[in-house]
Amino acid sequence: MLILGLESSCDETAAALVTGDRRVLSHRLAGQEAAHAPYGGVVPEIAARAHVEAMAPLVEAALADAGVTLAQVDAVAATAGPGLIGGVMVGLVTGKALAHAAGKPLVAVNHLEGHALSPRLADAALGFPYLLLLVSGGHCQLLLVEAVARYRRLATTIDDAVGEAFDKTAKLLGFGYPGGPAVERAAKAGDAAAVRLPRPLVGTAEPHFSFAGLKSAVARAVGSHAPEDLAASFQAAVIDCLVDRTRRALARVEVGALVVAGGVAANGAIREALERLAAEHGIRFVAPPAWLCTDNAAMIAWAGAERFAAGLTDTLDAAARPRWPLDPAAEAVRGAGVKA
Ligand code: KG4
Ligand code: ZN
Repeated sequence: MLILGLESSCDETAAALVTGDRRVLSHRLAGQEAAHAPYGGVVPEIAARAHVEAMAPLVEAALADAGVTLAQVDAVAATAGPGLIGGVMVGLVTGKALAHAAGKPLVAVNHLEGHALSPRLADAALGFPYLLLLVSGGHCQLLLVEAVARYRRLATTIDDAVGEAFDKTAKLLGFGYPGGPAVERAAKAGDAAAVRLPRPLVGTAEPHFSFAGLKSAVARAVGSHAPEDLAASFQAAVIDCLVDRTRRALARVEVGALVVAGGVAANGAIREALERLAAEHGIRFVAPPAWLCTDNAAMIAWAGAERFAAGLTDTLDAAARPRWPLDPAAEAVRGAGVKA
């Protein structure tokens, strides 16, 4: 089985070819960092226009790298949400056009399902069910992954996503966008005990997350501490929150593995802390390689492969969705912002 995957829901345009037996034949990615850097964050209209320019050449390059033609592809998978709607539409419409032209099925993929299943692309031995900590620029959730297309949300953030907290902290420290990798780098040179910062919601019964107060505390401390010390103290607070909340969720489920995915899962210190937590519980720890954690099309192609194998394809009128929860039955959380 050979799947072409397309991704354009945020500020990365990407195309990849992945096989049903987990071979990534090619993956191409065009970032837009330079275009958004002057604004300190992603500007939706700039992103959508950049996706339009980048997508077709990327698809051609991905096919050429893999040495295959569109006719050899079994299905076209494209992110259909959630994300910036102008961008989502570029990838989804491209996917529909390619599927229609080549007479192949379309798989409309939830970007979050791409992140959620990416660890199974990296690790053939990872079976269901597993507990997933999904940490990205727009989301911070604990999900019980029961099967392809079956997710139970155990917790979410009541305000900011964890990647958002990294990006805002980076901005406060003058590191620029995107902030996660810069904060991690600075943290290595700092003292994590230098600044006392809050651990919002730690110790509460429900394993939800909150990062807005932590970010405000960083804002108040800026100027009176070295940026490296603030970065290290911030990252340590985030880790305490993630570990405490994940430990609570682990007590509620019966799983063989703890899995972390999403852009923030590229953070080495967070991975190490979660690995220790899994070891404490005597279960496996699985984290995709860093390039598969941040947005890419290989994870979309893989989710497409898993859905296609399960008989889940979509018609050409599949809608682009700005919001699309993985677990539609999950209750709204008190205090939750639009991201819940
Ligand atoms: O999954 P992703 O690429 O895009 C979304 O779907 O949101 O995640 C991007 C987020 C950004 O907030 C970025 O700052 C964060 O992941 N990130 C990191 C690291 N690398 C990326 N956060 C902390 N440490 C990192 N090394
Ligand atoms: Zn993402």
